[in-house]
Amino acid sequence: MQPKSYFPMRVFWPLIVALALASSAGHAADAKKASKITFDEHVLPILRENCLGCHNQDKSRGGLVVSNYTTLMTGGSSGEVIKPGDPDSSRLYLLVSHKQQPNMPPKSAMIPAESVETIRKWILGGALENAGSKAKIINKPKYEIALSSINKGKPEGPPPMPSPKLSLEPLVRTTRANALTALASSPWAPLVAVGGQKQVLLYHSDTLELLGVLPFPEGVPHVLKFSRNGGLLLAGGGRSAKSGKVVVWSVATGERIFTVGDETDLVLTADISADQTQIALGGPSKMIRIYSTKDGQLLREIKKHTDWVTALEYSPDGVLLATGDRSSGLYVWEAFTGREYFSLRGHTGMITDVSWRTDSNVLASASEDTTIRLWEMENGGQIKEWGAHGGGALSVKFTRDGRLVSCGRDQVTKAWDQNGGQQRVFEAFPDIALRSTFTHDGSRVVAGDWTGQIRVWNAADGKLLGNLLANPLPVTERLAIVTKELLAREVAQNQLMVSAAASQSAAQKAAEELAAAQKTVAETPLIVKMAGDTLAKAKNAIDKTTAALATAQAQVTAREVLAKAFAEAASKVKDAADRAKTNQELANAAAKSREIADQAAAELAAAQKSVADLTIVAKVDAEQLAKAQQNVSAANSTVSVAPKLVEAKAAAARAAAAKAAADKATADQRAATLTTIRAQVDKLRSAQLVARPPEK
Ligand code: HEC
Repeated sequence: MQPKSYFPMRVFWPLIVALALASSAGHAADAKKASKITFDEHVLPILRENCLGCHNQDKSRGGLVVSNYTTLMTGGSSGEVIKPGDPDSSRLYLLVSHKQQPNMPPKSAMIPAESVETIRKWILGGALENAGSKAKIINKPKYEIALSSINKGKPEGPPPMPSPKLSLEPLVRTTRANALTALASSPWAPLVAVGGQKQVLLYHSDTLELLGVLPFPEGVPHVLKFSRNGGLLLAGGGRSAKSGKVVVWSVATGERIFTVGDETDLVLTADISADQTQIALGGPSKMIRIYSTKDGQLLREIKKHTDWVTALEYSPDGVLLATGDRSSGLYVWEAFTGREYFSLRGHTGMITDVSWRTDSNVLASASEDTTIRLWEMENGGQIKEWGAHGGGALSVKFTRDGRLVSCGRDQVTKAWDQNGGQQRVFEAFPDIALRSTFTHDGSRVVAGDWTGQIRVWNAADGKLLGNLLANPLPVTERLAIVTKELLAREVAQNQLMVSAAASQSAAQKAAEELAAAQKTVAETPLIVKMAGDTLAKAKNAIDKTTAALATAQAQVTAREVLAKAFAEAASKVKDAADRAKTNQELANAAAKSREIADQAAAELAAAQKSVADLTIVAKVDAEQLAKAQQNVSAANSTVSVAPKLVEAKAAAARAAAAKAAADKATADQRAATLTTIRAQVDKLRSAQLVARPPEK
């Protein structure tokens, strides 16, 4: 990093020059080498050896004669076969390199690779005839890009986004980030273009995902602009004091469709008109050069600026062109005549940026004099002026709804309402803030600084949403990083799924327990009734037994008295009989009394046995009663406890179900993240398959 003091406060350009010098200068040398290849010296021998048999004056297959320069350049039956400067549009090169059918020479192997390469470089260098020829490269866009009318509103159909087939491989990877020199947002799509070293990076401004890398081997881009309909992206830049170019790509395909400018120094600013018929560029030449997109011809040069042209923009209605220079000159021109429309006087420092309001009635300009000014287009009067950035304002952009965003040497980015009222100041960068813009819908602000940091904020609350890289890692390294993350997340996901399944089955179990408890509660009245019945029966039984026992005991008592009386009587009769000895009658009576006494004794014994039996029965009855009472009290306690149990089980079931639901939600959410990461991995994998080798 160069010390900041190296750049005096009011001089911005050494910064850009230093940047441009920092990028290596391989390409200019390439072009020089290529320009030395000529038809006479290098190409004719190849054609003679391989093609002449079928493409000569006598036998001109396909209507093509390759034996002399004029006939070759005239072409064959399908027209020109050589497009100077553009091998990929030259049929001869396409057929010889087998990029297109029919392959030439037919039905045989490709001619040696060096010969194919010689032909390519010859065409690239302008298809010179001999060492004395001058290259005449025709700069036609690959497609007609001029529009028949200007659509000021949103274009029909989905806004152009880059094809998923775009390369994600950075062309250059520097060890440290470089200052952000160019930044633009699509007017209609969530798409931001970031200038890097020899490349332009396309980012999705919502997901912040890298969508494509557009090679810019011309050097460092110093300006990026989307066409008003969002279909084209323009980059201007180059190499300091060497070369400057403007390149136009199709946003959708990433295809380079147009290159203009033959500057001998950087292109510092450029724009394409709303109807896409003109491209204007400016730089250290102090000249505004305007090219036609029809044929790449220089339409006009405007020589009014007395210093480097540092900012320019076509009005959205395509009528006017505003340009600013390094020493505070600010002009508005009629886009189609180049006539001066207004000279806008007021700034006292370099004009760093200009931006038109959507209705083309107001122009905003930013200057190193620290101010942002608004100008009306009726009389060219200044309608607003405010000090925006201490030390110098370096960038200003209008949103479609008339707000403005700017940044500058005070290292901050600011959003303004259309009267210059400050709406928000975003967190300061560690260094000078160089470029800033709103995204297509005005919901986000993107800005970058001298250290190469690029931040994306929420416009509404200033919250930092993420960063973009002007210097992304190669696909392989990014793939390794996301793959690692994917693996870690997959492991975590598996664990999560296991625990989610566990909480699911816990919830199931809790629900079953709750159902069982509810069933018990439902059944308790029946249980209580049954217990009550049993108790009543037991009480009844014991009452009967007790009564029977009392009767039996009474009988025992009565029989005891009787048996005793009979026994006494029998013994008295027996005594009398003993005493009488001979008295038969007495003896008979005695025997009879004995019999009666014995019978009474037997009845007593029977009564006693019955008492004993009944006592056992009474004991059993008492046991049953006790049991029945126990059952009743158990049933009663069930009745009082069961609802509480049900309540507890219900709470447990609810908690378990909630946990299961939460676990599932987490698992689902992570699964979605995983899907996103998997898609990223897939994309990077396929990007790796088609990745171009980085250019030297
Ligand atoms: C064996 C004969 C043969 C040889 C050798 C041969 N060509 Fe051809 N070439 C043809 C024929 C036949 C056609 C017409 C093919 C067609 O139209 O389908 C043709 C067509 C072409 C065309 C297209 C012309 C047009 O206007 O459509 C080009 C370009 C061409 N050849 C270049 C070459 C070059 C360069 C070589 C040497 C590297 C070569 N050919 C060698 C037979 C040959």
